[in-house]
Amino acid sequence: MALSIVILAAGQGKRMQSALPKVLHRLGGKPLLEHVVNTARGIASEPPIVIYGHQGETLRHALADLNVTWVEQKEQLGTGHALQQALPHIPNENPVLVLYGDVPLTQIATLKDFIAKTPKNALGLITVNLANPTGFGRIIRDAKQNIINIIEEKDLSDAQKQLTEINSGIYFFPENFLQKNLSRLQNNNAQQEYYLTDVINMAVKDNISIHGFQHHSENELAGVNDRAQLAMLERAYQIQQAEKLMKQGVTILDPNRFDVRGELIAGKDVTIDINVIFEGRVVIGNNCTIGPNTVIRNTVIGDGVEIRANSVIDGAEIAADCIIGPFARLRPGTILASKSHIGNFVEIKNSVIGEASKVNHLSYIGDSDVGKRVNIGAGTITCNYDGVNKHKTIIGDDAFIGTNTALVAPIKVGEGAYIATSSTITRDAPAHQLTVCRAREQRSIPNWKKPSKKSEKKES
Ligand code: UD1
Ligand code: CA
Repeated sequence: MALSIVILAAGQGKRMQSALPKVLHRLGGKPLLEHVVNTARGIASEPPIVIYGHQGETLRHALADLNVTWVEQKEQLGTGHALQQALPHIPNENPVLVLYGDVPLTQIATLKDFIAKTPKNALGLITVNLANPTGFGRIIRDAKQNIINIIEEKDLSDAQKQLTEINSGIYFFPENFLQKNLSRLQNNNAQQEYYLTDVINMAVKDNISIHGFQHHSENELAGVNDRAQLAMLERAYQIQQAEKLMKQGVTILDPNRFDVRGELIAGKDVTIDINVIFEGRVVIGNNCTIGPNTVIRNTVIGDGVEIRANSVIDGAEIAADCIIGPFARLRPGTILASKSHIGNFVEIKNSVIGEASKVNHLSYIGDSDVGKRVNIGAGTITCNYDGVNKHKTIIGDDAFIGTNTALVAPIKVGEGAYIATSSTITRDAPAHQLTVCRAREQRSIPNWKKPSKKSEKKES
């Protein structure tokens, strides 16, 4: 079906108390407006029309990658006036769905159901009953329960204030309706705005039937007006993500302490402990465990991997059966082959660690290519940076790097080479040999006396 979608996003969002336009505040790591645009894209093939105004350039710049038709509303004179700005971009034969840039959690399925259930030529609107309807436009019904009007909070009589059915602000207008009616709106109300809600009463007078679609999920229709509501919807969103994953076979120890700020794809029998944050795109295989207080960003993890507490992983590829952490840091370009172990206080960057190799304690491995079954001792550092350029370290299969070794790159350590502890290696170490490089002799001084405490001079 041809359909135009208009997203209203020109308001300032004063109650956010922010220099950032409201719809750029993030939920689940994505700007609010991006959620709504994605929803729109799931319903219509044409890019949605976004009405913007307040801090327009900031908004357009931040969201330049979104495929939308931007339309400016220079002065914010109300929701009706906002929608008027979209008219030149709406073909007469298209019905129109109106969404808000600050209502991020409406589901595509809900909107499709709403559209499908709105009878042809009727005007559809989504309503919801709220325990606390204060602040919202109220739905006015006649004796036969037909919707006849929407009245804004500031224009309500005391009796009408008791009504709990509110206007969500999501509408489905039949073709050519807005073209005929928007220009008739007046601003003679408490806020002196052109209220989009006034078209309801116009439709009633023109014998256009109004279809109220009552929905039960408050979160799906809730808007973000202040930071408390943003936090509430963030948690609602995270619980939604957690529930989806749990249905697919992921154990989440506490959905209240679980955050996906991007996309998480997980296999079966994955266990995620508390306070784990996923950012960007993360893919996890089957039978993995993710320890508490871990941050994982843009990473692919194979089957049977164990990530222990307090690890920070960014831009890594981790093959099956690796063990990482606790307190490990994997930076972009880290590739771990299967069964490798990365232990505590180890940082790895732009390096390949071969199958079954171990870097278990207190090391920095950067710009390195480490073979299979290599053991890298505690405190080993690849000195990859000379202050100007980065250089590569290559370590062959089965090498053993003694503790506290400095490998000054560019450097090669051959297969099966053995580097003695505390060496500073500046030239290539041959395969299958022991290479030692440290102060030649160890001396002991027989008559050495432990320094004694200086006696304090008495002041005369
Ligand atoms: C609006 C509805 C109200 C409904 C509520 C649901 C009207 C008159 N009232 O009230 O019935 O219960 O939403 O949340 O429509 N906007 C513009 N340009 C403008 C004014 C607003 O683009 O000139 C945009 C805002 O950015 C926002 C949306 O329209 O995304 C709603 O505007 P807002 O001022 O928040 O309307 P409410 O008073 O909440
Ligand atoms: Ca609002």
